[in-house]
Amino acid sequence: MKRTLLTLLLLAAAALPAAADGGMWLPSLIGTRIKEMRAKGFRLTAEDIYSINRASMKDAVVLFDGGCTGELVSAEGLLLTNHHCGYDAIQRHSSVEHDYLTHGFWARSRAGELPNEGLNVRFLVRMEEVTDRIAAGETADAIVAAACAEGTGYKASVEQMYYGNQQFLFVYEQFDDVRLVAAPPSSIGKFGGDTDNWIWPRHTGDFSVFRIYAGPDNKPAAYSPQNVPYRPKRHFAVSTRGVREGDFTMIYGFPGNTQQYILSDVVRYICETSDPMKIDIRTGRLDIIAAAQASDPALRIRYAARHARIANAWKKWQGEVLGLTRRGIAGRKARDEERFVRETAAAGFEGYDTLLAELKEEFARIRPYYYTHELLSETLRTLRFAYSDAERRDALFARCEPVERDLYRQAFREYDARCTELEPIAAFREGVARCGTAEAYADRIFRLVLDDPAHAEIEALRKGIAAQLDAIVGALGTRSLRNCNSARMNELYARYVAGIRRLAALRGEEGDLFPDANLTLRVAYGAVAGYEYADGEYHRPLTTVDGIIAKDNPAIYDYDIPQALRDLHATKEYGRWAVEVDGRRTVPVCFLASNHTTGGNSGSPVLNGRGELVGINFDRTWRSTMSDIAFDPAICRNIAVDIRYVLLVIDRIGGAGYLIDEMTLVR
Ligand code: ARG
Ligand code: GLU
Repeated sequence: MKRTLLTLLLLAAAALPAAADGGMWLPSLIGTRIKEMRAKGFRLTAEDIYSINRASMKDAVVLFDGGCTGELVSAEGLLLTNHHCGYDAIQRHSSVEHDYLTHGFWARSRAGELPNEGLNVRFLVRMEEVTDRIAAGETADAIVAAACAEGTGYKASVEQMYYGNQQFLFVYEQFDDVRLVAAPPSSIGKFGGDTDNWIWPRHTGDFSVFRIYAGPDNKPAAYSPQNVPYRPKRHFAVSTRGVREGDFTMIYGFPGNTQQYILSDVVRYICETSDPMKIDIRTGRLDIIAAAQASDPALRIRYAARHARIANAWKKWQGEVLGLTRRGIAGRKARDEERFVRETAAAGFEGYDTLLAELKEEFARIRPYYYTHELLSETLRTLRFAYSDAERRDALFARCEPVERDLYRQAFREYDARCTELEPIAAFREGVARCGTAEAYADRIFRLVLDDPAHAEIEALRKGIAAQLDAIVGALGTRSLRNCNSARMNELYARYVAGIRRLAALRGEEGDLFPDANLTLRVAYGAVAGYEYADGEYHRPLTTVDGIIAKDNPAIYDYDIPQALRDLHATKEYGRWAVEVDGRRTVPVCFLASNHTTGGNSGSPVLNGRGELVGINFDRTWRSTMSDIAFDPAICRNIAVDIRYVLLVIDRIGGAGYLIDEMTLVR
């Protein structure tokens, strides 16, 4: 009964105007959202989220390793992020004798915490709008240089919001001594593997633990044994009270890239051409790799990371196409565009009458270039045309050789078959003609790369690829080849979004718009929420340890759990982490919520209405990934690991209760 009511409420929410849904808000402007956040269950203030005068929540959030998010959970610099964000570090410390990926890692003392060269975290010191200063003639470079000089380890950048309608300076404090403290075995941290990736119901303990070290003055310092644990201005209290469906949640992190304002034509290109092409080509690559992995345990390990990387976006794009298509986003955007033309005319705004036509025309012009760029990225540019002597000698490489050769053949074949929108690379075309087929040409180049790496044919092909790329960059007028953009598209989008904002301002709704994600710090808020997965199939938002046991299968690599977890489940000795769910004694594992997130939000703190940590974000559901283009409240859900499962694993699997003693637990 309760659930029916909730479903009805959710359906009612879905009927609200699109502007009120989703959102990745700039922390310094969060004041404009606070009323709505409080109506939804947030109990704190805008100053608690972001303040430059006193410690605030932003001081407990970091950009982790340049592409993930992490959060501080102790006064001694202890940090949580995802297992998949710490993966590189964990892998680098692993060897056959100390296989931390497989068995997990638990530093038993501060001295046992492992330094990681090249790994850094960044705190946001402050952000401020500099649009006017730049308009008045200051350069972004000068603004950045001045900000960097403000403190030890300071980094800064000026970032564009709304296609350059606004510019913001971001000042960061960067710490370079970040040590690995703990990681669960992959059978927990990556439980479900690629099978469950982007999928709900989920049972992954996707977390790892690091510690930030600083110089004796608490300032950033290069790695040194003399460094001491960093004392952060703020850390999050960890709530063991747990979450229930409908509870307010907030995510504070670094979303990487969204494209909310793109043209309907671009959405159609993504759904009908770009994503399907990339999915098809990757299916071929994954088939080759998976067959090799199935044939040989050494190859399974050797290709594990590569397979995971290729499969991640491959699966995401499939969900994105499904979501965008089923929810009719291209059509919705086309209607928005018509309304834009009507409303700007009615409002008497000048300069917008031909804008959309110009955008469409420019996109039609750049489409073949953009398509060819994407094709190159998925084919010839995935190949290595040079191997080190050591790699060639490497006994393992001999076993990889047939796999690598097949990947060459596949890439050459796909480029040959699909390069129809621009003239194919001349050297490539000649090579195919000379050898008879693309595959024969692939074989030849592959052999040369191994046996005669200085051969002119390799160089000719490499130069050809570079030249085609140069031609594409030239036609697009920009080196940042993403989001189907060009320098001209960017200018036109800037005008388009300026118009959208003016119209919103007329309605008093300017505050409902937010700039696309660009790896700057953002706040998203929503609620713990299930959703209707299919007709008559409602997905509840919480999973438990019992679900892990139900999936457990030693014969399936992705579902083979550690014996310790089986034992724990058998005895039900969950200690203080136990809860009752449907009358069962168990521990929560993952939950779903309606926060607007994207890549980069991995590892982000999921906070309750009191600003306490209740989970760590790590994924979205499959079709949710449409939210990079349009957030649909009916289906878009982020996936978090419940903090109580993290605590259970640290405590009962890792035997690392001393880490929990450092945290501030609240109920
Ligand atoms: N889908 C998540 C993300 O985009 C998790 C990826 C890592 N996990 C995996 N099974 N490959 O990063
Ligand atoms: N797993 C993603 C990441 O690494 C987050 C999932 C998403 O795209 O929402 O950032």
